[in-house]
Amino acid sequence: MEAAAGEELVPPMPPRLREGTPIWSKLMKSRDNLIAGWTQDCFERKVFDFSILNQRYIVCNDAASVREVFLEKNANFDLKSPQMRRALEPLLGDGLFVSDGDLWRQRREACAPSLRSEHLPNYVKQMVATTNEMAGDWLSRDNETIDVLEEMAHLTARIIGRTVFGDDTPDDEARQVVTGFSHYIRSIEQMDIASSLGLPALARITNPFGALKGRRAASTIHDVIDRIISRYRDAGISERNTLLAHFLAPDGPGSNTADPGVTSCPFSDLAARNEAIVMFMAGHETTANTLTWAWYLLAAAPHHRARLQAEVDAVLGDNEPTLEDVNRLHFTRAVIEETLRLYPPVPVLSRQAREDDTIIGKPVKAGDIILVVPWLLHRHDKHWEAPNAFRPERFVAPAKRPDRFVYVPFSVGHRVCLGQRFGLTEAVLCLAMLARRFELDLSPGHEVEVSCRLTLRPEGGLPMMMKSRQSEERG
Ligand code: HEM
Repeated sequence: MEAAAGEELVPPMPPRLREGTPIWSKLMKSRDNLIAGWTQDCFERKVFDFSILNQRYIVCNDAASVREVFLEKNANFDLKSPQMRRALEPLLGDGLFVSDGDLWRQRREACAPSLRSEHLPNYVKQMVATTNEMAGDWLSRDNETIDVLEEMAHLTARIIGRTVFGDDTPDDEARQVVTGFSHYIRSIEQMDIASSLGLPALARITNPFGALKGRRAASTIHDVIDRIISRYRDAGISERNTLLAHFLAPDGPGSNTADPGVTSCPFSDLAARNEAIVMFMAGHETTANTLTWAWYLLAAAPHHRARLQAEVDAVLGDNEPTLEDVNRLHFTRAVIEETLRLYPPVPVLSRQAREDDTIIGKPVKAGDIILVVPWLLHRHDKHWEAPNAFRPERFVAPAKRPDRFVYVPFSVGHRVCLGQRFGLTEAVLCLAMLARRFELDLSPGHEVEVSCRLTLRPEGGLPMMMKSRQSEERG
């Protein structure tokens, strides 16, 4: 699909179901693709609910209800669904992504400083160095067809790996973490995606080997990270500027804990390991998918690509980019923000009510599952003009910023993504640096299918033809 000059691009999305489609049929659709089971009216309604067996689901589909759940009444709606916790706990332990209550609060407070803006310039250096390496590799494969999803996954895994563990981690250890991680995620995906959000497990694909593979992968990752931590301990950690070093620092937030083996004390070795894995898990596939969709959208809308190329050529020239440069790439950032709107990497967020309550006056029972669905909110007829069209200029000043409870690619409120600045900076920087040197075009005949298991991505990868941009073309 490519938009002709002057024409607006409406990129691919799964067809919407007919109103009145029976709930079981919707569920079967959602089983393999979490965004395929919605009917047209879901893109028009505010709060609505449905029940399956004895489980009630409430979908918050406007700013007021999202605000109540994620901000004002977070104390009652902070629980991830039990299925999500069960799926991720073997890997993350009590890491903050799956924890709640006081433990979550402690961990969040302890992890947040290492991702604060003052550390960003240092992380940007890692991002630049790693992207330069990838650009060198791409140059040696000029005019080849590449799988952009795989390339972006490789790039962001290296960036987050170096940020968490350092750039001197031996290649084979880094590889074991990346491979173990992808085996683990695939094993959960094979088990049952719908159930991880609290939907019934009726559609479970029983695969005992998947679970075993997942446990093995988790234990490999744990062993590798334990080894890295013990090396950090032996060598002294104070000089290092990695997330793991921040978590283990002697003057860090866990320094006054009595028992270093208790995971509820940030940062025993075990707690540091769990949080390192959380950062790795939360911080690489999301950004990789964003970048992949951005390449797709730019190739399908060449007039937007030309504008982005002109911006990166003017702002970056031939220099090594800095954080200040990233802040001047307004259109590139708008392309990333619009990509996150159309293809939010985490398109469904779920919580479970601790106690009876109300959401904008509607009664909620303890145990009800609350769904906030960026896929619906971001394409909602009442919240956006031409919601399915690719229009990066929505995010360029003087256009009014969207309501922060309606545009939620990073979630919002108390559990908002801790790596939001990191991830946005990384996506803008990597796209700008690679677009300065290369142009990617869609592979003729390849049909893109939007698929959502744990995250939203093009099914089966994204083959694209890559060619280097000549210096005269870059002005
Ligand atoms: C484009 C990139 C990213 C997107 C779209 C994204 C999106 C999200 C979303 C939607 C959540 C909330 C999940 C939920 O409530 O169920 C989340 C949580 C989180 N993200 Fe990100 N993320 C991105 C990048 C990153 C990066 C780079 C890091 C770390 C360096 C990171 C660390 C985290 C952590 C630690 C949480 C858990 C926060 C908590 O529960 O308190 N994310 N992210």
